[in-house]
Amino acid sequence: MNDVDTGAAPDLAAALWRIHRRPGRPQAWVGGGNLPWNDPAFSARMLREHLDESHGAASRRSAERAAQIDWLWARLALAPGKRVLDLTCGPGLYAVALARRGCQVTGVDFGPASIAYARQLAAEHAVTAACNFIEQDVRTVTPPAASYDAALILYGQLAVFTRAEAAALVKTAAASLQPGGRLCIELLDQDRVDKKQSTWWFTDDRGLWGDAPFVHLGERFWDDEQALSLERFYTLHLETGQLDEVLLCDQTYGVDEMCGLLQAADCDLVDVYPAWDGLPLPDAAEWHVYVAQKSIR
Ligand SMILES: C[S@@+](CC[C@H](N)C(=O)[O-])C[C@H]1O[C@@H](n2cnc3c(N)ncnc32)[C@H](O)[C@@H]1O
Repeated sequence: MNDVDTGAAPDLAAALWRIHRRPGRPQAWVGGGNLPWNDPAFSARMLREHLDESHGAASRRSAERAAQIDWLWARLALAPGKRVLDLTCGPGLYAVALARRGCQVTGVDFGPASIAYARQLAAEHAVTAACNFIEQDVRTVTPPAASYDAALILYGQLAVFTRAEAAALVKTAAASLQPGGRLCIELLDQDRVDKKQSTWWFTDDRGLWGDAPFVHLGERFWDDEQALSLERFYTLHLETGQLDEVLLCDQTYGVDEMCGLLQAADCDLVDVYPAWDGLPLPDAAEWHVYVAQKSIR
């Protein structure tokens, strides 16, 4: 065996025991159930992932976004001067693209690095006047009523909220639309969500979970009764012995349930597009896109 200077922190053993003695199945939503997007260090690391064109895990790659923007432009009847609300806008990659086409865009996200980047991107493209980026939890926003032509909740983010929070957010988004305005929600296709219980681990020196050597372990559970996926992540930081634990819940919805949620929010026409309506996205088959129209009554 080679001698390796591990520089190991004394707390490592304690952290390993904590993992060993972890409770069984995690309880849904305990401690929030979302990634720590609003933690400044995590947000800065996540921003690297958003901008990394080698994968589309945090934001889709630019060519894929361009295809989505064309599709949204047509389906949401967008045009220069239209007002768009992008809830969970991340680093503003969609919002700034829409502003460059002449829309007035409000983006809301609670990731500090993402919002800072979105503002910088808007400035780089000289569309600062057309963009308003707000660093806030979308569950607490109160956009002015009947003032937008379109609202977006993209890349499955409605799923990280409890059913009650999601219903409230859909109502908030719909209330922000003027009559005939369109609400676009992208959600994982419930039938295609991974429901197998599984575990995994990997090591790295730098990545989403840390900027110094770490071991990352994960487990996935499926709650059939609630149609909910639970992922528990442990990151063990080798230089310090610090152990981070994160629970991520993904609430899934069948098409009928989501259409009901939209109708309860005063949307009377709901179009459902399985597999991103055939757009050439590598993961298109996993998604349903809902486009709902705010009642004109
Ligand atoms: C997968 S990213 C997608 C970002 C963007 N829609 C895109 O596709 O580039 C999810 C985003 O949701 C944001 N988010 C998650 N929960 C949120 C909350 N409660 N309030 C505000 N933003 C939230 C995260 O900060 C993150 O930027």
